[in-house]
Amino acid sequence: MSNDQFREFLREVLPSMGYSWRRFERRNIRRRVRSRMESLQIHEMARYARLVIADAGERAVLDSLLRLTITRFFRNSWLWSELAELISEAAVRLESGETLNIWSAGCAGGEEPFSLAMLMDDLARSGLLKRSWTILATDTDRASLERAHTGTYRWGSVREVPRHLLHRWFSEDDGVWSLSGEVRDLVTFREHDILTMEPPGRFHLVFLRNSVLTYNVEEVQRRALESVRSCLITPGYLIIGRTEKMPEGVGFEEVEKCIYRKRE
Ligand SMILES: C[S@@+](CC[C@H](N)C(=O)[O-])C[C@H]1O[C@@H](n2cnc3c(N)ncnc32)[C@H](O)[C@@H]1O
Repeated sequence: MSNDQFREFLREVLPSMGYSWRRFERRNIRRRVRSRMESLQIHEMARYARLVIADAGERAVLDSLLRLTITRFFRNSWLWSELAELISEAAVRLESGETLNIWSAGCAGGEEPFSLAMLMDDLARSGLLKRSWTILATDTDRASLERAHTGTYRWGSVREVPRHLLHRWFSEDDGVWSLSGEVRDLVTFREHDILTMEPPGRFHLVFLRNSVLTYNVEEVQRRALESVRSCLITPGYLIIGRTEKMPEGVGFEEVEKCIYRKRE
């Protein structure tokens, strides 16, 4: 398949699946689609496009091929000191006995929620977080959830972990970095689709980074944001990715770069 044929395929098929097609002009996605076509013994892109359009089962297969799960611990390192402040302040505002609940939606292999767990534990140790807290991490991708369960990572994933946390919580063996069970126990993982399922609880803070707001069309983004907004306890906060843009009129106001507060 040529570049042009692949681009034409993406442009024809992906918007109807709710995706922003340009985000998928990538070699790894092209490789996955080509291998799927080979397994079906389909040699023309146009024929595969017709199959996807006509067959819901094949659309589901293609949907799974479009999952991009690359991430790392403490992604956008500058953000985490802002988050530390936000979390300590949010905890202070809780009623006595109330728990601070956080949701990492689209958590991939656990890098984001585990970063958060290490940050929260650090805050608690330094007396800046005196409330109990929970972290729920969800994703649609089972392979990623299994990766999170093993808690093992390569250097590329852990290279931005602050050194005192890296030494406290990871052990390294032959290039594999294993996260301590003590941190893994601080996060609950669950399979969940942000776009088709009810939010899995009520939260003070939701992370929706580098998933729907990057890969889906605006109409789908708005639906996801409405759902997130409905599960945020006022004043609740939403964290989005560095390159992501909040659509107009969805009921959030910017507090800092990447950090939004739910409007009353
Ligand atoms: C690139 S990773 C981002 C991980 C992390 N949030 C970050 O910012 O580094 C995107 C993740 O979102 C997940 N995802 C995409 N669409 C989703 C949906 N509708 N529901 C739940 N998870 C989704 C993907 O499976 C993938 O693991």
